Amino acid sequence: MSHDLDQQAVDILSKNDRGGFTIPTARLYPYQWNWDSAFVALGFATFDMDRAWRELELLLEGQWANGMIPHILFRQNDPDYFPGPSVWRTPDASNGGGKMPSGGISQPPVLASIILELLAQGGSNKRASAMFDAVMNWHRWFHECRTPKGTQTIATIHPWETGRDNCPDWEIGLSSMEIDPDIEPYERKDTVHSAASQRPSKEQYDKYVTIIKFGRDHDWDQKVLTRDGPFVMFDPGLHFILLRADRDLLMLAERLGRNDCVAEIQGWIETGVAGVETLWNPELKAFCARDVRSGKFSNGFSSASALCFYADAGSDEQRMGTLENIQRIGDAVQFMLPSWDPHHPMFEAQRYWCGPLWPQMNHIISKGLAEQGEQIIADRIRADLAAVIGKSGFYECFDPVTGSGCIGTDFSWTAAMWLAWASPKRTARAA
Ligand code: SER
Repeated sequence: MSHDLDQQAVDILSKNDRGGFTIPTARLYPYQWNWDSAFVALGFATFDMDRAWRELELLLEGQWANGMIPHILFRQNDPDYFPGPSVWRTPDASNGGGKMPSGGISQPPVLASIILELLAQGGSNKRASAMFDAVMNWHRWFHECRTPKGTQTIATIHPWETGRDNCPDWEIGLSSMEIDPDIEPYERKDTVHSAASQRPSKEQYDKYVTIIKFGRDHDWDQKVLTRDGPFVMFDPGLHFILLRADRDLLMLAERLGRNDCVAEIQGWIETGVAGVETLWNPELKAFCARDVRSGKFSNGFSSASALCFYADAGSDEQRMGTLENIQRIGDAVQFMLPSWDPHHPMFEAQRYWCGPLWPQMNHIISKGLAEQGEQIIADRIRADLAAVIGKSGFYECFDPVTGSGCIGTDFSWTAAMWLAWASPKRTARAA
């Protein structure tokens, strides 16, 4: 069986290959997505290291002059997706944007960590060196443009930027913003390609589009978005992923002889470590999203809360509280780790980020837990992903109660996480 799945995973990656970059899945997501591509590179690296680097190199082609690497690169216009380039209307290269149309927001910065992994697997120092400055500029952009004034914590201005689109984490920020009555009428495409019951609501989409309108109306000035945008929330996902990526970037700088960058990266790490405190919700004993303006915490445990191990962050007491939450949630579901607490009233086992488990998130969560000595839970998270893929196939995400697949099919990052991590063949090699 596992041989078949290994081959199926390779076939999915080649089917979704669009000539050097990979779409997440046909029709539903017909462009290159930022963190999808980074995870996909790990899958390619198991059988074609050159192709793995190529994926990342093509992602960097979309970088803006200010350093931001957008969440989606629109190399061509595809009517299957909303909102496409004519909605985002981001600046062209002569006006500070990238070489091609793109989204006006970013996505979780896993790239530095993936580059370090490729090097650990024998990848080329030369190709990593060629990308180093671009990654440095991206991290600088996050620190300068997504750290609200007077704080040390990474915030987001759009739920899509977090990669965890409609997670209940964003309810506080979304409920305190208004839908702009002047948004242009639009037609969703996601609910044509997948079940509406598994996707975000109309009200959420109206708010997502309202934020895009604000960005457009302000020429996508990223500092203005973080200062005055309709939605500004601290995100444990972005914060922990960036902190980990800064630590990995420091290792890359040392390995590639970029001593000129070491002090700056160390400064980012110090700030990142200090900024963790803002995310600690003592009531829940967990790191939680938080509205920047009101200071209100999200009142649930999301899978991003579990990334403190991956970031090597938090006190012993904070890690213990987090671990207790993870164990409690593990007892409540058959397949770990759901994206939202199953005991919370907003949990929905099959609706996008309100409950399903996600292959790429669980990979980095498990990696962090294993690094911090929590091997039993780390192994269960990996085994549970292998089990749901074996049971249901290569879906975008999975119901943590039944293991059935949700939303996108033949999904690239699921194939990549199988090849790079969950496949028994891989596990045997790692042991
Ligand atoms: N995940 C988003 C979507 O569903 C965008 O990044 O369209």
